[in-house]
Amino acid sequence: MKQLVIQAFGDADQLVQVESASVPLQPGQIRVRMHYAGVNPIDAKTRAGLGWGAQAIKDRLPWSPGFELMGVVCEVGPEVTRYQLGDRLFGLVSGGGYSEEVVVDEHELLPVPSSVLDEMAAGLSLAGLTAWQGLTEHGKLQAGERVLIPAAAGGVGHLAVQMAKNLGATVVALGSIGNHAFLNSLGADEVIDYRDEARMATMAPVDLLLDLVGGSSGISQLSHVKPGGRVVTVPTITADEVIAAAQQQGLTATGMLKRNDNEQLAFLMQELAEDKFWVEFSQIYPLAEGNLAHRQIESGHTRGKLLLMP
Ligand SMILES: NC(=O)c1ccc[n+]([C@@H]2O[C@H](COP(=O)([O-])OP(=O)(O)OC[C@H]3O[C@@H](n4cnc5c(N)ncnc54)[C@H](OP(=O)(O)O)[C@@H]3O)[C@@H](O)[C@H]2O)c1
Repeated sequence: MKQLVIQAFGDADQLVQVESASVPLQPGQIRVRMHYAGVNPIDAKTRAGLGWGAQAIKDRLPWSPGFELMGVVCEVGPEVTRYQLGDRLFGLVSGGGYSEEVVVDEHELLPVPSSVLDEMAAGLSLAGLTAWQGLTEHGKLQAGERVLIPAAAGGVGHLAVQMAKNLGATVVALGSIGNHAFLNSLGADEVIDYRDEARMATMAPVDLLLDLVGGSSGISQLSHVKPGGRVVTVPTITADEVIAAAQQQGLTATGMLKRNDNEQLAFLMQELAEDKFWVEFSQIYPLAEGNLAHRQIESGHTRGKLLLMP
């Protein structure tokens, strides 16, 4: 089966397609033929050798990226009780999603309702859990509060805008002008070009900042948070500096690391099936062009989600 791997950390051209042997199934395992795999910034950062992700796999190269996918059960191992051949499944995997097939324990993936598109299911897990946990568990967002969401058109941001609206918050969404119609279609109450300093200066303060950009950009957004307000900074690499700056300003600030939680994921899938929100997928690349997908995600200006297909 075809698989994208890196042999060493480096730029996007480190991703090469190889033919890997299919391993036999152990009791409780299923083989899933990938229809779509999600591409996330963590894939590219880890490929480049950055952050906690690269630390975790540095002694295990070659490594195949990919932490979320949607696919169909193509083989069932002994003692499997939940699924059968042909079932449509989605969810998080511990790497290796950039593969024609993955082998997982049956409890790792969840069913896709018949009304949900393959592509939406493929792009939901990582960004969806991050948005939900950032807003609710870490951000403690309440109905009636104002929340500022920079990178609102991106993978996490476009889901966070819709979820925050569903929670009854007023959403201030930042994006470049080309994304304003998209951000309005997501239900954002105020849509602002983050490059427009004059307009940014007139923004009414918010209760919660869900910082999806980090670094100096995240720090510059702190001035828009009400005295005593809350900050959740999502990019891990710059979390310490954003938290320190926020605390100096008297704000309550925390970083976060998305937690795998299939109960929450099943809830989000149910909301997706009920059209409470949708997953935007802007580009789909063949597996062999994973390097182009990584260049796009590294541009920092992706709308919604990027997917790979075999
Ligand atoms: N801690 C965790 O567990 C966790 C989980 C998931 C993601 N993350 C991190 O969270 C961040 C966001 O992830 P993502 O998947 O949403 O990324 P993404 O899809 O690549 O985000 C792209 C978006 O960023 C916007 N953007 C770029 N520069 C901006 C700026 N200066 N101000 C405001 N918006 C800006 C772009 O908007 P325009 O195109 O309109 O300019 C684009 O819509 C990444 O750093 C990722 O690694 C962390």
